[in-house]
Amino acid sequence: MFLTKEEEQMLAGERGLGHQRAMELLAALGKIYDADRLIPITSAHLSGVSYKTIGDGGSDFLMEMARDSKVCVPTTLNPAGMDLQRWRDMGVSSNFAEKQKAIIDSYGKLGVETNCTCTPYFTGNAPKQGDAVAWAESSALSYVNSVLNARTNREGGPGALAAAIIGKTPRYGLHLDENRAPTVIIEAVVEDEITAYSLLGHAVGLKVGAAIPYFKNIRPDCNGLKTMAAAMAAAGSVAKFHVEGVTPGWQSQELKGLEKISIGSKELAAAKDALTSGREPDLIALGCPHLSQMEMKMLASMLDGKQRNRDAPEVWFCTSRVVKTWCPKETAVLERFGKVVCDTCMIVAPIEANHKCTATNSAKACTYLPGLCSQKVVCDSYPVLLEMIL
Ligand code: F3S
Repeated sequence: MFLTKEEEQMLAGERGLGHQRAMELLAALGKIYDADRLIPITSAHLSGVSYKTIGDGGSDFLMEMARDSKVCVPTTLNPAGMDLQRWRDMGVSSNFAEKQKAIIDSYGKLGVETNCTCTPYFTGNAPKQGDAVAWAESSALSYVNSVLNARTNREGGPGALAAAIIGKTPRYGLHLDENRAPTVIIEAVVEDEITAYSLLGHAVGLKVGAAIPYFKNIRPDCNGLKTMAAAMAAAGSVAKFHVEGVTPGWQSQELKGLEKISIGSKELAAAKDALTSGREPDLIALGCPHLSQMEMKMLASMLDGKQRNRDAPEVWFCTSRVVKTWCPKETAVLERFGKVVCDTCMIVAPIEANHKCTATNSAKACTYLPGLCSQKVVCDSYPVLLEMIL
């Protein structure tokens, strides 16, 4: 990969250890993926935040990077292992909380915005069409590639951090026009409902792996698109998709000769069955990806005026701190039924310490709950899950 004189100097350590480490990583990625050069990015989004997932090794690495380097583009952060303000309410131990705060502290020193959310595109970090960016978090980067039509590869946490420090990323993969075209057509017959979109994403991800699907017959809004993106990235490794009549540039895609796959209610029912392994949840966790302002309003309107059943399981409504501050009335309603939890989610929080069976409407969460959180899982729609609380 071609490097400019300034990039060579950074690689040689002339700008300090943090820049050198970051350049080494970008140069290695460029070599592996045969990139021709580095290109400037306009933003980054980092994963690798929860102490549960990165442990002491990750924390030490961040502390070292924070000693002499800072990000040089707007950079946001994925969910951490706890609500940074009300972690005690979540049953998180003081030991975990201390370690988690040290990680957030390092990111703060690096100049990263520490509102931890997987939907930063709803709250200020929304790349413009055509922007090159370096985003980790599979659901968010797929949304950015597909719905916002900006360009990012499927970055890991360290690669995205390196790009944020240098302000550049290797030019390969989804940064190139030829790798952004659809490779398979999905003819979907599903209800216009958020859990149906999540299950559709799951079924498609399992079938197509890393392909670029082109959906026909569906009209998801931004909430349907975010949950579909998350499920496809978790069940497969889809990092970009097109939806006819919805995502930018769908009219100019070449579909001739592509394989067609039909997905309908039978496939969705099978996906739901396969994801369900439990019966009696002790936690109902909504908001994977984090609840949008629109979803907060919808959930609050579904619960307003109703009474919580005293024997109902604990409930978490996971959202970003920004969305929570935008929704004071809705938060007050939802807090009568559970906790509006910010900065974290049911997967990266250490829920296994206090819970055994979790119910959610997110196929992505259902995919990860057994392996990452030792949970039995109940997969169902918002109305069914809310009924369990009443
Ligand atoms: Fe976000 Fe956690 Fe789901 S990071 S996409 S809520 S697994």
